[in-house]
Amino acid sequence: MAYTAEIGRDLALAANFLRNGQLVGMPTETVYGLAGNALNPEAVAAIFSTKQRPAFDPLIMHLPNVDRVRQYVEDLPKQAIQLANAFWPGPLTMVFKRKAIVPDLVTAGLDTVAVRVPAHPMAQALLEQLDFPLAAPSANPFGYISPTQPEHVQEQLGTKIPYVLDGGPCQIGLESTIVSFTGDEPVLLRKGGLAVESIAAVLGQEVKMNLHSSSNPQAPGMLAKHYAPKTAFYLLDDDVPIQHFAPFNAVPPSRRALLTFAASEEVEGDVFDLSERGSLPEAANKLFATLRSLDAGNYQVIVAKLVPEQGLGLAINDRLRRAAAK
Ligand code: TXA
Ligand code: MG
Repeated sequence: MAYTAEIGRDLALAANFLRNGQLVGMPTETVYGLAGNALNPEAVAAIFSTKQRPAFDPLIMHLPNVDRVRQYVEDLPKQAIQLANAFWPGPLTMVFKRKAIVPDLVTAGLDTVAVRVPAHPMAQALLEQLDFPLAAPSANPFGYISPTQPEHVQEQLGTKIPYVLDGGPCQIGLESTIVSFTGDEPVLLRKGGLAVESIAAVLGQEVKMNLHSSSNPQAPGMLAKHYAPKTAFYLLDDDVPIQHFAPFNAVPPSRRALLTFAASEEVEGDVFDLSERGSLPEAANKLFATLRSLDAGNYQVIVAKLVPEQGLGLAINDRLRRAAAK
């Protein structure tokens, strides 16, 4: 197919493509999604083939508000309603027992479904126009860095989809935080754009974590290796100064890049600071676009330093570790 996705702001056109079973790049406040009609099995199948995503990895359904969510899930526990009131629309995905109307393909055969109400005004307006939910994984080829600008989607998936809605750069820049409500207690399945501390504060309790990988049927998409640049990518060991880090040293200064955070030290090589003023939201916002541009640069190696393990730092470090996983 010869599409090379147009980037534009025409909501009615995007809605029409979706009603016809086609896929559209959709802005959200977290990352861009590859959206299709979640109730149309052909559209959902096209999402998997377009992304080259394995069919065991279920999709998130996007809806405009919590009342619409109720049409697709069995029951919203009290704590889930608390979180919905506090954080929807926003960067939170919740997993519930599903109703039969949700296609098996969306949930990879699980009896649960992940749902989210996105805050981006264009995603809201699009969802309001449609009488079906949108299944939307991040709009990147499986395993690569998630897109935070419409051009990222066009570059990578443009030949496979007709249209990308232009909502500008994503405000948050990391995928939604996922909390499961399928057991007795809420469980965190993915660290993301909503800090787990904020969730704990609303619930008045610590949130248990179950973040384990592909082998864990609870979170089938949490593969150890993900978000990976094509360029060799390493995490700097905690206690090793960059001058003494072998993968960095072995490469001529012009061919090596350091990704860092609120750094002060002098380094021979190109340095990209995710936030000179030490702001984790700023770092989250810049992470994926910076990784992409480094990957497109003429580097032989990229070395990244972890950020502080708190707030959005938990999700940033999660992405950095997966990007570096072998
Ligand atoms: O911010 C986001 O969540 C973005 C935007 C576009 O909304 N979407 C996104 O989708 O990150 P995706 O497909 O890249 O990640 C969805 C994650 C996967 O790790 C998948 O395994 C998990 O959600 N998931 C989906 N349904 C699930 C279910 N029923 N139980 C457990 N995990 C589920
Ligand atoms: Mg993804």
